[in-house]
Amino acid sequence: MIDIKNDEAIKKMRIASQLAAEVLVMIAPYVQKGITTNELDRICHDYIVNIQKAVPAPLNYHGFPKSICTSINQQICHGIPGERALKNGDIINIDITVIKDRYHGDTSKMFFIGTPSMQAKRLVRIAQECLYLGIQQVAPGKQFGDIGAVIQKHAEKNHYSVVREYCGHGIGTGFHEEPSVLHFGKPGTGEILKPGMTFTIEPMINTGKRHTKLLSNQWTVVTKDHSLSAQWEHTILVTASGYDILTFREEEQSLIDKTA
Ligand code: MF3
Ligand code: CO
Ligand code: CO
Repeated sequence: MIDIKNDEAIKKMRIASQLAAEVLVMIAPYVQKGITTNELDRICHDYIVNIQKAVPAPLNYHGFPKSICTSINQQICHGIPGERALKNGDIINIDITVIKDRYHGDTSKMFFIGTPSMQAKRLVRIAQECLYLGIQQVAPGKQFGDIGAVIQKHAEKNHYSVVREYCGHGIGTGFHEEPSVLHFGKPGTGEILKPGMTFTIEPMINTGKRHTKLLSNQWTVVTKDHSLSAQWEHTILVTASGYDILTFREEEQSLIDKTA
């Protein structure tokens, strides 16, 4: 059963989601050559706990040891912050989930360290377009397969692949609620979208093949062929007329207009 949020729940989803978005804005100036992912984790943790008076959802989630996920280069998702320092040319996904007043907001974005390769730049842009194209499918009466289909089509048209083992998810008082939101599939399939549903779309796009490997830390997912991977994530509400991006950041406006 896919939960339909009432007005009060939506209000709380909006607040939690905006807090998550604000963490990405706050951390941006720190994401520079030389900083370690542990330092990024500490800054985000302290901001969420002390300034936002919220809870970093990843910390202790099924044993996850840190407050954010940091996934670098060929890491697809669930990278664990550590002593690794960022270096020129790296690409990194920072994934933030906060809990406020019992509700979750979940969002991630890609950052470039110094000067990225043309390949990295293109991958990151196409992955972001995949997210926006998926979001633009969201409206009552549409189906989850419509979202997956446009994402897969855009990625594959650009000779990239879509990760299959990890997906978006319903979100609310639960971090991961029903349904699983696949980033591939066929139009006109899957459950029908209804106003009040809240879920994430978070495509993971690889320059190489789609296959994944789990590192021995039991969390970090990498591309099997060591190709680069990029991911962007938003928490979305289905409204009466379409969608609302609950984790929207002001910096995105021009890009989203271009994709529409
Ligand atoms: N934020 C991730 C997602 O988008 C989930 C991270 S789970 C963790 O669903 F335990 F790795 F933090
Ligand atoms: Co998510
Ligand atoms: Co996330």
